[in-house]
Amino acid sequence: MNPDSYLIHHYSHYDEDQRLASRHGSVEFLTTMRYIEKYLKPGDRILEIGAGTGRYSHALARRGYEVQAVELVEHNIDIFRKHTLPGEPVTVTQGNALDLSDFPDDAYDITLLLGPLYHLYEPAHKRQAIREAIRVTRPGGILFAAYVISDGCLLDEGFHRGNIDVAEYVKTGLLDGRTFAASSQPKDLFELVRKEDIDQLMDVFPVTRLHYVASDGCALFMREAVDRMDGETFQLYLDYHFATCERPDLAGVTSHALDIFRK
Ligand SMILES: C[S@@+](CC[C@H](N)C(=O)[O-])C[C@H]1O[C@@H](n2cnc3c(N)ncnc32)[C@H](O)[C@@H]1O
Repeated sequence: MNPDSYLIHHYSHYDEDQRLASRHGSVEFLTTMRYIEKYLKPGDRILEIGAGTGRYSHALARRGYEVQAVELVEHNIDIFRKHTLPGEPVTVTQGNALDLSDFPDDAYDITLLLGPLYHLYEPAHKRQAIREAIRVTRPGGILFAAYVISDGCLLDEGFHRGNIDVAEYVKTGLLDGRTFAASSQPKDLFELVRKEDIDQLMDVFPVTRLHYVASDGCALFMREAVDRMDGETFQLYLDYHFATCERPDLAGVTSHALDIFRK
């Protein structure tokens, strides 16, 4: 079976568009946008690899930036195109993060890789996607790579919500029963990593890390509380999250992490 078929099936039947729309889901979006905006300069060219339905691409294009997007799954591309406003400076093409040969070297000021690394299981494939993202970025340009973090997911989806059967995962070898490190395959849909895995992956690349961010922190774990907050309390929660999301002692307990580095 083609390893991509699992994720194509998943995204063809999943409301990816709504994922970041809830209040708890918006924490990841607001955090990522906050860091992108920190580095954006007028006239910057942006490439989004694995753009999904285009939440980031559209948000950035509507601020006047020229955005090119690449996405693997046709279903997401159809929704992306439906959301594109007349005259919006954004284009989307079907493609794979592992092979961006249609895109030139050193072309983009900002490159977003927010999703493909969730679905690549071999270190060689993850490195290939990162290598391609670095190749198309201009020297001095900034890259944003997102990951799904195993401990945040295990606590939230496993022990807290019971959506993941932790005992079963240990029995089938998906989780190591001693260290609780995960080892997924394409049929499991998501590749769960720890910061130490990301550090090891990035070791070979001559880039400079600028930030390592717990992009949603505990927002998914405590989603009911976050969704119940009134506007003022949610703003205070965001202030807390933004103040603490780079703290190394909190970085592992997040569902998603963002590695931000300069070429
Ligand atoms: C979780 S979604 C994230 C979408 C968007 N970047 C965001 O953060 O909202 C992951 C996206 O990456 C896409 N994707 C996964 N593997 C890919 C690959 N090898 N090449 C291109 N896109 C890929 C999926 O189809 C999906 O749309």
